[in-house]
Formats: sequence, structure tokens, C-alpha cells
Amino acid sequence: MPTIYAAVQFPRIASRTYDKEFISSGTDSLPKQTSIPVAHTPTPKKQEKNSGCRVALIGFGTVGRAVAKILCENGGGDLRLTHICNRNVEKKKQSLKPNDVPGDVIWTDDVDTVLNSDVQIVIELIGGLNPAEQIVRRALAAGKSVVTANKQLIARHGPDLLQLAASQGCQIEFGASVAGGVPVLPALRTGLCGDRLHGIAGILNGTCNYILSRIENARIPFSEALEEAQARGYAEADASEDLDGGDARAKLAILALAGLDSRVAPESIRSRSIRTVDAVDFDYAAELGCTIRQISRAELKKNILLAEVGPCLVPADSPFGRVQRNLNLVLTSGQYGGDMAFLGAGAGGDPTAVAVVSDLMFVAQGLSAGRGKKDVPSNVSTQGISTPTISSDFETPWYLRFFVRDQPGIVARLAQILAAHHLNIDSLLQKPGFEKAALPFVITLEPCHDSMLHPALEEMSGLEFTIRPCLCLPILR
Ligand SMILES: NC(=O)c1ccc[n+]([C@@H]2O[C@H](COP(=O)([O-])OP(=O)(O)OC[C@H]3O[C@@H](n4cnc5c(N)ncnc54)[C@H](OP(=O)(O)O)[C@@H]3O)[C@@H](O)[C@H]2O)c1
Repeated sequence: MPTIYAAVQFPRIASRTYDKEFISSGTDSLPKQTSIPVAHTPTPKKQEKNSGCRVALIGFGTVGRAVAKILCENGGGDLRLTHICNRNVEKKKQSLKPNDVPGDVIWTDDVDTVLNSDVQIVIELIGGLNPAEQIVRRALAAGKSVVTANKQLIARHGPDLLQLAASQGCQIEFGASVAGGVPVLPALRTGLCGDRLHGIAGILNGTCNYILSRIENARIPFSEALEEAQARGYAEADASEDLDGGDARAKLAILALAGLDSRVAPESIRSRSIRTVDAVDFDYAAELGCTIRQISRAELKKNILLAEVGPCLVPADSPFGRVQRNLNLVLTSGQYGGDMAFLGAGAGGDPTAVAVVSDLMFVAQGLSAGRGKKDVPSNVSTQGISTPTISSDFETPWYLRFFVRDQPGIVARLAQILAAHHLNIDSLLQKPGFEKAALPFVITLEPCHDSMLHPALEEMSGLEFTIRPCLCLPILR
């Protein structure tokens, strides 16, 4: 049978910011940093008293510390760190090294001390929804601009918060909330706002990418790759948000807002877990010239937004297929400019802090230019945002992997069900050497809509010879 696939989803990437050199070709070596430089020099300077834009930091954890370090090492430029707020603040201060933070910074565990002060920009880095949402709303209501890295907050309340900021003549920026240190949101604002984007896809969760690329390279079971990721600090003890797609779909919702002007509740985006991917799937994927990655994708078609997060087969030599370890990659597709790619560190204190400080500098520029209420710039505009219907009914070729108790007539039975649902088989793959009691084999299908495939999968799930649910993955060519 021929192995022919229609061109689907995001076409090949003609990269502008993407450089082959940044993508590892299968080793564990750490690639170089993202290609967009940030305007600061690492020369330690003293904070100029009474000058610059007054900034308060709420949340002195991994990212907060790194932000304070950059501000202090660079003397802050036009930025002056005046307050640091954290619960149990005395304990936090004990872990400081000399010169970590300028001596004139006010430390407090009382948010009101910050909100009632004359600071102009509040950095929210405590994470989560509560009390972050209240703090951000109160800061904006008081006319203070906000910089945050909080994806859950922005994915759920971004449009409202943008509106509140605009009505108060201030800004809310959240460049670090998607892809950590990779400057995707600023790129959408400055470099791509002249285009009309219709698609965004990305590897947005470093934990999943670490686990999948480890299974790919070492052919270890999923559970072992997860344990390794946890031991290295790449995955939390409860990694459900990462593995089951909750983290990535919050980021996809933000990208849809910023790049496709679409308001999307993260819960309305379907997510499939990577937990069911087996090492043998990488063997079969390789036979098809592919590998497996967790892909978050959104495609705008009139007033329908196709959106989904989950493991997909991608060509091994494509930008997605070559992203190793815990890196992030975002691809955009535009009507005029075609495809663009952005690659780099999606997490980590320092890379994420670079994105936060870049947002701070952007807000401070507006403040020092003395812009009036109506001229406040923003990474993301509140104008022209629509609320499309959300669907996951993508049309792609499909990879179906079965684990069966071997017996005669299995393929004929599956083929019969597929034919009854008008689904065309493209290829059949079966590797030798497996036990008959748990035999994995693969059927690939020619392109069809998700909605056509679903009833066939339900019918197959009741077959007496299957010993595990069928793994069904889209193939993105
Ligand atoms: N870490 C990354 O690589 C990364 C990447 C992209 C985006 N982000 C986002 O950046 C934000 C911060 O992440 P993080 O990794 O820096 O988190 P973190 O290390 O847990 O730091 C959070 C800090 O906020 C403090 N805090 C929590 N609740 C508080 C409250 N109610 N009042 C005052 N202080 C409070 C915590 O104090 P305790 O120490 O007492 O708990 C901690 O110092 C999150 O929104 C996260 O999603 C992080």
C-alpha cells in the first residue's frame, strides 16, 4: 500500500529566527540560547536613589530572585526596585547573599504596603489564581502597571485584565507566561503584527518534551523517563498538569488571544495525555520517518478555532522533531509572511526573568515617554478580540497502535470496522519479535476528520482481543 500523506496542518518552516544550530540532533547536549538578544549588560551598578521607574516585586521564588538579580546587577537602568513582598519574608531574607538586593529595598509580607505605595509597576510572581488575581486587579485599579509570568491567571482572565488596565491608563504585560524565556509574545506585537496569523503551534511544555525525547533516545519506559525528569527537577512530584496537557493548553489559550485575537477558555481546548505513549511507538514512528512530541496547535478558520494539545507524530527532521530536552518551540503561520519559528528555554529562573525584565523595560519606556491614558501600548490589544467556536475536529492522517492477544482474523476485523466508517487504511506495520500475548502493531489511516474516526475507535474498544486501549495519534506532516 502506498505511504502518501496529504499536506496538513502547519506546513514546512522557513525560519527567520529559527536556526538549525539551535536544535540538537538527538544528543543530550544543551543547545545555545534563543536568538533574540535582550538589552542589558551584566555590569554591576548601584541603584540611583530617587530616579527611575519605581518597581515592586511580589513573589521572591525561582523567577522573582532571578528578576531581582538582573535588576541589581544592571543597576536597573531606568528601573528602581523599591519593594519585595513575600510571605514569611524574614525567612526569605535569611537565604540572601550579600549584595543580592540593594540595601534600600523595603521588604514586607503585606501586599497593602506595596499597593498603597507610590510604585509604578508591580511584578506578580507568586503564581496560581489566588491571591494573584486579587493582587493584580487591585494594582491595576490603583493605576499601577503589572508584569506577570502567571499563565493560569492570564489564560483565564487575560481579556478582562487587559480591559481593566486600558480603562485605568496602565498596562499588563505577560511575555513570560508562554514559553518562558522565548520572546514569542513580544514578537507577535512587534515583528508579526503586520501579518494576519491563521495558525500557531508549539512545543510549550518542557517536561513533556524532556520525557518524550528521553524515551526516544534511550527507549526507556514512560515511567522511568518520568522518574528521571522528577529526579532532575524537570517534573513536579504530581506532574499531571504537564503530562495531561493542562499547562500547555493554558499557554495555547494565551497564544490564541495574542496571535489569533481569539478569546478561548483553556478548559474548552481538548487535551490528550502523553502517559499512554510507549517506547515501541517510537520504533513504529521511526518506520514512518517520524518521532512523537506533545504539540499544542490552534488554527483559525473563519469563526471556528481548531485547537488541541496532545502527543502527535511529527517528521523526525522537522523543527518539532528536532527539539530535544526541555526546550520550547513556537511556530506561527501568517497569510502574508508565511511561517516563523521561535526556539529557546521555556522555563528556568534566569531565562524567564529575562522575559519579565524585558516586559518591565517596555512598560517603563511608555511611562518615561509620558504617554497619556489613551496611548498606552501593550503586547496584546483588547481590540478586535472575538470569541470563536472551539473545535478539535482537525483533519489529519492518523496513527493507530494496538496491543492485542494474537489470534487469526484480527486485521480483517479491524479493517471491516474502519471500512464501515468510510476510513481508508494507508499502511500496516508489524515488527517481529514480540510475545503473542501482547503484540503491538500499527495501522495508519489516510486523512480524515477526528469526528469520523471517533465512532470507529469506540467500536474497536470493545473487541475481545485488545489488551490495551488503542493509542490514536494525529500525524502532522
Ligand atoms: N519557574 C519557571 O521556570 C517559570 C517559567 C515560566 C513561568 N513561571 C511562572 O512564574 C511564576 C513564579 O514561578 P516560580 O517558579 O518563581 O514560583 P516559586 O518558586 O514557587 O515562587 C513563588 C514565590 O511566591 C511566594 N508566594 C506564594 N504565595 C504567596 C502569597 N500568597 N503571598 C506572598 N508570597 C507568596 C512563595 O513563597 P514561599 O517560598 O513561602 O512558598 C515563593 O517565594 C508562576 O506564575 C509560574 O507559573 C515560572
